[in-house]
Amino acid sequence: MPLALCVLLLSRVAPAQQAADVPYVPTPQNVVDTMLEMALVNTDDYLIDLGSGDGRIVIAAAKRFGARGMGVELDMDLVFTANEEAKRQRVAGQITFLQGNLFDVDISKATVLTLYLFPRINLRLRPGILSRMRPGARVVSHDFDMGDWKPDLRREVAVPNKSYGPPASQIYLWYVPADVAGKWQWRLPVGGTTRLYVARVNQMFQELSGEALVDGGTATGHGATLRGDLITFTLTREFFGRKVRHEFSGRVEGNKVTGRVRISGANGETTLDWEATRVERGKMRIE
Ligand SMILES: C[S@@+](CC[C@H](N)C(=O)[O-])C[C@H]1O[C@@H](n2cnc3c(N)ncnc32)[C@H](O)[C@@H]1O
Repeated sequence: MPLALCVLLLSRVAPAQQAADVPYVPTPQNVVDTMLEMALVNTDDYLIDLGSGDGRIVIAAAKRFGARGMGVELDMDLVFTANEEAKRQRVAGQITFLQGNLFDVDISKATVLTLYLFPRINLRLRPGILSRMRPGARVVSHDFDMGDWKPDLRREVAVPNKSYGPPASQIYLWYVPADVAGKWQWRLPVGGTTRLYVARVNQMFQELSGEALVDGGTATGHGATLRGDLITFTLTREFFGRKVRHEFSGRVEGNKVTGRVRISGANGETTLDWEATRVERGKMRIE
């Protein structure tokens, strides 16, 4: 039989096993524990581990914190081991391990995503994380960062017998930021007058910049933070020669932010409800 025909027939009978993008190296248990603690994993969470190895991260999330979740792993033997261990630890009703390619996983359901992959794999996953996971979801990565998407939290954990590099692991945590780019508008009664506030917000990942006007006059902004869907910032504006400071905090939901504002100035201070509407969409920079 000609060689080409042999190869063709064999390839139909036994499809080539997909090569792993990252070798199997388990996360040490003390690092697993710190990853889950940093992400504040709890019973409301659905955790997905991409490239789940022997399942230790998902199993610990279920056992210690009552989370539900799944792991996806290319290696069938590791999937089997993980499902057996889940049964042994009596958490098989909360979690499952599937054989598959991590790039095919629908991550939109995850409230916590865990990774122990390579930097280039993290970067390939980044656009999907930012566009598909819900604001406020947490991403925790062992040892590898996300390029210019800065972590919200970073911690180092001692690993005396680490198989590569220095005897420590880095843990990075990100909150998936809400998209707040664009022009926002709201009104507030200050000093006996209802005033119009307009803010133009530029966004790169969770970092915010921009400018704000109150009744057409420039206000000075500082300290804007965005953690998931929670936003805070301060605006200062002079009314009749007196500085009035506004400390805003709120929750973003699509084109609305609702929250509270603390207003302080020469006439004392007051706290009001606050609701802003996005009147023009911008573009969050994620590249
Ligand atoms: C460094 S290990 C991490 C294992 C586990 N997450 C942990 O932290 O202990 C990476 C795992 O990803 C798996 N893997 C590599 N490429 C994959 C792919 N394309 N799809 C699914 N799993 C993959 C490997 O088989 C390996 O078990």
